[in-house]
Amino acid sequence: MVKSDVFKLYESDVLRLATGDTLRPGGFVLTDLGVKSCAFLPGARVLDVGCGRGATVERLVSQYHLQAIGLDPSEVLLEYGRRKYPAINLIQGLGEELPFPANHMDGVFTECALSVMEHLDKALKEIFRVLKPGGWLVINDVYARNSDRLQALQELNLDSCIRRALPKEQLINMLLEQEFYMVNWTDHTNLLTQLMVDLIMTHGSMNEFWLKSSSCSGSVDSSLAQAAIKQAKMGYFQLIAKKDVS
Ligand SMILES: C[S@@+](CC[C@H](N)C(=O)[O-])C[C@H]1O[C@@H](n2cnc3c(N)ncnc32)[C@H](O)[C@@H]1O
Repeated sequence: MVKSDVFKLYESDVLRLATGDTLRPGGFVLTDLGVKSCAFLPGARVLDVGCGRGATVERLVSQYHLQAIGLDPSEVLLEYGRRKYPAINLIQGLGEELPFPANHMDGVFTECALSVMEHLDKALKEIFRVLKPGGWLVINDVYARNSDRLQALQELNLDSCIRRALPKEQLINMLLEQEFYMVNWTDHTNLLTQLMVDLIMTHGSMNEFWLKSSSCSGSVDSSLAQAAIKQAKMGYFQLIAKKDVS
């Protein structure tokens, strides 16, 4: 895997101290909501793209009896997941090149991961390919509510699910281009606000959180990061889509 000098916030303990093993706002709240919306049969085959430490995969197996598998490029996060949940199936790979045949999965989850990927269009194409006709896509992720102020975010020298946050319309258009059809979009920005509260409780202030992140990487400017997030009016959503049966 190619090494990069961009700071990977999701691999650092600075974030995990506040979120636990689910490296996203809301923990399992939207995972559970997504499972209920999809009404999977027991044993349904479900892939978690950008599974991080594997906490969602473990939950899909233990709570919902799904045949779940996680995929992520980060050896650091996969190692942790394999040690903590030895019974689950975690593989290394990229969302842009899914190592599965076409029409294979009953569902794909991707939580705070599409917004980290460099080639989102390729990843969506791959997800569409591996889903069975009638298969479900559940996306829980950040979005930019102010589409005019994205540049400062994109220029930040950190890899986290804020840098590539897209406006709602742009993401929906990309999904429609892949011939997904939209089932539901719901705003859950309150979960992102709660995460910020948790980060403040854990680290003392958002400034301190960004300063600690910078001390891990030496490359994140805390005031720039905070200003960029504010300008883009970051929100959080759940989107559910389906691959058409026809
Ligand atoms: C914010 S973390 C979220 C991890 C996990 N979904 C969770 O919620 O705990 C983003 C994840 O996306 C993964 N990621 C980055 N680039 C990726 C890619 N091209 N394909 C798949 N996953 C990717 C990272 O390694 C990281 O685990």
